[in-house]
Amino acid sequence: MKVVVTYESRKGNTARAARLIAGGLQAAGAEVTIDPIDDIDFSALASADLVIVGTWTGGLFLFGQHPGDGGKIASTLPDLWDIDTWSYVTYAHNPGKAAGKLAETLEAKGAHSLGSAAFHRKKLQAEVTAFVDEIIDHYAAS
Ligand SMILES: Cc1cc2nc3c(=O)[nH]c(=O)nc-3n(C[C@H](O)[C@H](O)[C@H](O)COP(=O)(O)O)c2cc1C
Repeated sequence: MKVVVTYESRKGNTARAARLIAGGLQAAGAEVTIDPIDDIDFSALASADLVIVGTWTGGLFLFGQHPGDGGKIASTLPDLWDIDTWSYVTYAHNPGKAAGKLAETLEAKGAHSLGSAAFHRKKLQAEVTAFVDEIIDHYAAS
């Protein structure tokens, strides 16, 4: 299975989560390409079976949470017709609906969004492991 992991990260938490996801899927036998969103490998994307997109949570902590830099993911990614996507946000206190909004952005590009998670920035290892297990279980079952 060919997987593209792409992310935007200011301070490194979302990048670290991306590396953990990539490592977990590689260990399960996937061929993984990992790049920040502004350096994405479009040829890998064109042949990917599955795309994983991550960003940080922006907002006012109590309300107005949204995925990262807003439109950057939407403006950078091409159409993703019928490609399976999984997505995640990292956050500090309260992600609100940022993960769901990120999934909606991918669905608006035609993607088949299968899951979207929020990882607390101080619990990345444990929460990413559960996310990767969910992805592996999904494809093992199908
Ligand atoms: C401008 C700004 C707004 C933020 N707003 C929120 C927020 O509303 N809720 C929250 O839980 N974290 C918020 N955060 C924290 C980041 O989402 C969190 O630290 C994230 O893990 C950063 O990812 P990065 O290290 O990949 O940049 C905000 C951070 C910044 C810089």
